[in-house]
Amino acid sequence: MSIDGNLQKYQSDAVVAYYLGLTGLQPAEEHLFLRWLKEGSDILDLGVGGGRTTPALSAIARRYVGADYSAAMVAACRQQWPDLAFVHCDATTMACFEDKTFDAVVFPFNGIDVIRSDEGRAKCLGEIARVLKPEGLFIFSSHNARVLGHWPQLQGASGYRIPWRIARAVLKSASLALRGLASDAFWQHEGYIHDPVHGGMDHYVSTPHTIKPQVEAAGFSILEVVNGHFPVVSSPSLAPWFYYACKRTT
Ligand SMILES: C[S@@+](CC[C@H](N)C(=O)[O-])C[C@H]1O[C@@H](n2cnc3c(N)ncnc32)[C@H](O)[C@@H]1O
Repeated sequence: MSIDGNLQKYQSDAVVAYYLGLTGLQPAEEHLFLRWLKEGSDILDLGVGGGRTTPALSAIARRYVGADYSAAMVAACRQQWPDLAFVHCDATTMACFEDKTFDAVVFPFNGIDVIRSDEGRAKCLGEIARVLKPEGLFIFSSHNARVLGHWPQLQGASGYRIPWRIARAVLKSASLALRGLASDAFWQHEGYIHDPVHGGMDHYVSTPHTIKPQVEAAGFSILEVVNGHFPVVSSPSLAPWFYYACKRTT
């Protein structure tokens, strides 16, 4: 599937409705935003989707801008938050923003993995570095290429739902492990996989080991890496993705 195939998914009514329905920060985001983002910052929320992170980030920002390459996502956000700024732009070519505009850029929930080439991802990291002020912050997540198990979501579950969710997690883990071990991306710690999400998308997957040289080449240093299931899970094999906080160093 080409990058346009991924974009088509993010333009579809069903997927826009799905992201509009998501609310609240993930605990890993809560931790990193609280630790690294300063009140009164100018913040760019890349791949804003249905605006899940908009309330939290706009509440602490002096200037908040949400951006997405899906026109449908941007339209949905503008309707929901008419007083906030949402821009239709591709993270790999952000000519709409001048150099050194933002104190912080976030690309949450693995949005950067939707970019379907190494060149595109390098361009995106370069553009993020360009629009950040010196020492600016970049917070993002990327799917874990080495995941082998699915951790059951037991929060809010009771009665028969608990064993049901555990059984489902065991089955999902078996299929994840089989798929992972059979993929080149698992053994190379990075690569492109076909992900069944939203009926099938192509995603980049990585590990902290393979992300480090990429962000460093764009002029960032990694401040902190957090398991996607923080704080419940610390095993890297059970991390669905890793969250990264980086600082622009050049
Ligand atoms: C997994 S969704 C996350 C949405 C939202 N940030 C959230 O956390 O719920 C990824 C989002 O990134 C957007 N996206 C993917 N590639 C992009 C790119 N190259 N430029 C801008 N947005 C992009 C998609 O359209 C989609 O809205």
